[in-house]
Parts: sequence; structure tokens; C-alpha cells
Amino acid sequence: MKRVLIATEKPFAPAAVESIQKVFKASGYQATMLENYTEKSALLEAVKTAEAIIIRSDKIDAEVIGAAPDLKIVVRAGAGYDNVDLAAATAKGVVVMNTPGQNSNAVAELALGMMVFQARGQFNGKPGTELKEKTLGIHAYGWVGKNTARIAKGFGMKVYGFDPYVENSKMEADGVTPVESAEDLYSRCQYISLNIPANAETKQSIGAKLLGSMPKGATLVNTARKEVIHEEELLQVFADRDDFRYLTDIAPDCADALVEKYPGRYFATPKKMGAQTAEANTNAGIAAAEQIVAFLEKGDETYRVNR
Ligand code: 3PG
Repeated sequence: MKRVLIATEKPFAPAAVESIQKVFKASGYQATMLENYTEKSALLEAVKTAEAIIIRSDKIDAEVIGAAPDLKIVVRAGAGYDNVDLAAATAKGVVVMNTPGQNSNAVAELALGMMVFQARGQFNGKPGTELKEKTLGIHAYGWVGKNTARIAKGFGMKVYGFDPYVENSKMEADGVTPVESAEDLYSRCQYISLNIPANAETKQSIGAKLLGSMPKGATLVNTARKEVIHEEELLQVFADRDDFRYLTDIAPDCADALVEKYPGRYFATPKKMGAQTAEANTNAGIAAAEQIVAFLEKGDETYRVNR
């Protein structure tokens, strides 16, 4: 009987867990849950016998991989896999996959929700503004970007996109105007939805030059990763312009300073919750479970992210 561990410090919705268990039961696999754990030692203990692991933002580093001698595959039920040490996995012959697109609508809905919340003065009872006719720049046009564009167009926003890895024709087909550089995107858009992954190229890449160039009423929406922001420069932009606003699903290290100095211009969710819907959990969880079965039974490596 193959042994799978579902390790989620931030648990899936109960409906998603039920669906995941169903997939493994149908294949005759044994699936063990490790939810809400607070110590790494619990994860190190739980992985000892696992051949496959499903995770969310849980950290899988060289120590965890080293503690799992039978491990063959790790599937990140979600998009970003910056929480997995890919080199350590590759060195041990462990396949790493993600489940692209499965939770993207949930993240996009949160991005638009935060934009409405801010446009209405964080629901302070005073007259706010509307999203209709405002410019929105989508920085990275992957699954979240595509869904954000679809919903924003429903609000009547003018949507622009920048992504050096996506053909212009793909954005144009969605009614999105592609631009040639990040500088161009930021300088023309009142709202920016940040969807870039965190990697060596993008870390601290969003700073004063881009944010300072945004038009009046600039609002940055970050549902990606905190590491992509240059925090010192973010603080400088807040100090330099009183119209700048920052909405994020991942609180920055400088959160206390922003809360204290700039009330009404900053908002962070209490815990990363872009993908926290029953639907997103179920879609990503089932995809992860099916990918594990397809890999262990047939060697299917679709969605592998390490080589
Ligand atoms: C992702 O990369 O898929 C999102 O950031 C969601 O992360 P989560 O599963 O930890 O909520």
C-alpha cells in the first residue's frame, strides 16, 4: 500500500480533504494527515515513511527531504513553489510538481475584493471611488493574471499587462493591452496587481522607481510574495507621496511601521488567504492527489518543476 502524507500547516477546507482522501482510497493508497502543526519536528517525524507528500506553503527543505528516505514526489497544491528546495529534491531524485491554475480564481477574486475595499476607503463610511474606467496593470500574466483581467473587465476597468514570458496575442485575445516593460505598466496604471513568482530574478525587484512612477491614487495589490517588494523603498514611497496605497495578502516585515504611520493607506490579510476557498482547496487538492497517482502508477511527470 503506497503511503502519502498531506502536510498542511494551514489546513484545506474539510470538503477538500474528503475529496483528496477519495482519490487515494480509489487507488488503494494510505493517506495520513498532518494539519495545524507548529513545530518542524512534527513534519520531520511525519515524513519518515512517506512516498509522496502534498503541501501548501509548507517548507520542504534539505532536512525534510533527508528525513524521508522513501520519498519519490512532492506536490505543492498551488502555484508558487518557492517553499521547496528544488536542488535538494533533485539531488535525492525526488520529483516536485505544482498544480497550476487550480486556485487562481480564488486569488483573483481576493485581489479585486481588496481593490473595492480600498476604493471605498476601507469601508469607513465616507464617499469613495469606483473601479470603472480606472487603469489596472497586471504584472505577470499567468493564471492569476488572466482571471484578474477577466473580473476587472467586468468592473469596466481598462486592463494592461506585462509579462516577458507570455505572447502579446494571448493578452490581446482576452481584451488586455500588452505593454513592453514593467516601467511602462507602472507609469500608466493606477492599480497594479502583482502576480510575479519569488525567485532570484524577482526578489526585491519592486521598489521606488516603479512605484514612484504610478499615476495619482496609486494602489499596489500584492497577492504574490512579500519577498518581491523592496521594503525600504516601499517605506520611502509611502513617505514621499500621500496618495500611495498598499494592499497585500502577505504582510511585509515593515507591517508595524505601515500600520502605525499610514492608517487607511495599508491593508494586509491576517494570514495569506488568496487561495483560502473551499473551491480552490478542492481543485488544487484533487489535482495534487491525481498527479501523485499518475506519477506513481504511470510515471507521468506533467507539471514537474525540477529537473
Ligand atoms: C499559491 O502559490 O498557490 C498561493 O500563494 C496559495 O498558497 P497557500 O496554499 O499557502 O494558501
